[in-house]
Amino acid sequence: MNEFNNEVWFVGAEMSPLVKAGGLGDVMGSLPKVLLKAGMNVKVVIPYYKKIISKNLIEIKETYPAGKVNFGEIPFEFGIKTGTAAGEIPIVLIEQNHFFDRDEVYGSHGGVCAYKDNLWRYALFAHGAVYAMRVLGVPLIAHTHDWSGGILPAVVRQTFGDKKIRMEGGAEGILNAKINKRVHANGLRPALVFTIHNLGYQGVYGMDDFYDIGLDFKYNSSESYEHFGTFNALKGGIKLSDAVTTVSPTYAGEITTPEYGFGLDGELRNLKEKGILKGILNGIDLDYWNPATDSFIGCNLNLKKDKYTLEDYGEWENFKLKNKKLLFSKIGLEAKAAKNGRSLPLIGIVSRLTEEKGINEFLNALFNWNDFPFQAVILGSGKDYIEEKAAYLAKIYKDKVFTLTGKYDEALSHKIYAASDIFVMPSKFEPCGLSQMIAMRYGCAIAAGDTGGLHDTVSDIANEAEKKPSGILIKHKDANGIAWALNELYNIYAFNKDKWSGIVINSANKHFGWDDSAKIYENLYYDIIDK
Ligand code: ADP
Ligand code: GLC
Repeated sequence: MNEFNNEVWFVGAEMSPLVKAGGLGDVMGSLPKVLLKAGMNVKVVIPYYKKIISKNLIEIKETYPAGKVNFGEIPFEFGIKTGTAAGEIPIVLIEQNHFFDRDEVYGSHGGVCAYKDNLWRYALFAHGAVYAMRVLGVPLIAHTHDWSGGILPAVVRQTFGDKKIRMEGGAEGILNAKINKRVHANGLRPALVFTIHNLGYQGVYGMDDFYDIGLDFKYNSSESYEHFGTFNALKGGIKLSDAVTTVSPTYAGEITTPEYGFGLDGELRNLKEKGILKGILNGIDLDYWNPATDSFIGCNLNLKKDKYTLEDYGEWENFKLKNKKLLFSKIGLEAKAAKNGRSLPLIGIVSRLTEEKGINEFLNALFNWNDFPFQAVILGSGKDYIEEKAAYLAKIYKDKVFTLTGKYDEALSHKIYAASDIFVMPSKFEPCGLSQMIAMRYGCAIAAGDTGGLHDTVSDIANEAEKKPSGILIKHKDANGIAWALNELYNIYAFNKDKWSGIVINSANKHFGWDDSAKIYENLYYDIIDK
């Protein structure tokens, strides 16, 4: 007899602040927290990355007998631990030291040098998560993420059957019941929700790998993981789920086109036509990313308000100046004066350094620009040639540019958001983007590619109808387009203080919290149980 619990399980590869490689970690750390606060019974399931997880943030309460899966001829054992994260979020840890006791989440350089056995690692994680369902009780909803979550739907189906649990009238009162309720149901599986955070990573392997990861033969089909002769973890994940979401409304449209669909646009068009694909904008954790209380930065904002007015600009200017001074003394830069006597505006970048992020083009823009009127602090990790180019820029513009590459540095990232005047994110595509949301909360003007979540969150100065601009959206996302945008912002910063103050205040007033989107996810869960 399957025992269902009135729970939603988030199953994913990262969870901030325990362990994070990018925005997926932020989402896995913040959305469950908001849903819990709204009264839902939520658990987060992640691999137990023993070496890199912030152990001081987890409390392990129970350890369960080990489970086992055979990958081909090789048996692998895994452990299940339960507890809480950051004092409040129930977690389930899947322990398997060979796969998860490593120095990185996906591999070095922000995952660019990916571990060769990542498919095995995340397949084992899926088997572990489903075993945990059998041990702890099956959740009504399993919500999984990205290609690394793509194996879970198949393991759920082969374990519990294809028939989804259904509660007529939805599960509103049930998912929100404060006490745990058990539902007995045989031959039924949880509802499956899949979120695409980035279609650029699909977990593509040779079809031979399919036979090694403990899946039923029936999933070797173009109706699940097979895609033009390859094994595609993300494709299987979306084909076998009941609802598919992605992380902004604009991106939900973009991925149905050949330009942004990375070969899955046909599948995604189908899902969209059937009403299965939805774009739900991410939020950020407004408590964690709070300039008034952030303990990573040297100087907090001296205002505690939800809405700032132009009269508050003085405080914001002060906040920027002090944090710039502190940051510069830490990294060994000196503020340089612009022609009008103000210091040169500081450009901040905190990014994975991959092609999609457009940082290579940004660097070209500065290389081509004789005596560019900015200083810049670049923190990122990724492709060698972009890391090297960024380091070279800092080498030849020693007095203007500081670069730290190959590192993930949470504390420095906060300092950069707090000190920068302009945050640059010229992405070629951007499913949602959280960095620009964080940067706006810390009063930065944004220069961003006009795509995906950047389009949905940055109010464009070049759009005359826009009453409350927070930055500029770059249509031509090449070095020239980026230089044009930076030049526009420089002119406002240097020569039009009123307009600049307006941008800073507009940015700071954009609260990208989770409240609205969390409600949309809640309704999606109710709906899907009802169907
Ligand atoms: P993506 O998930 O595509 O990398 P997002 O904008 O959604 O982009 O999220 C990036 C997150 O990772 C932000 O919280 C950003 O501050 C953080 N981040 C990226 N690179 C680094 C780094 N090298 N050090 C610290 N934080 C980083
Ligand atoms: C991905 C995307 C990014 C998004 C993040 C969280 O890493 O690249 O745009 O914000 O996931 O959903």
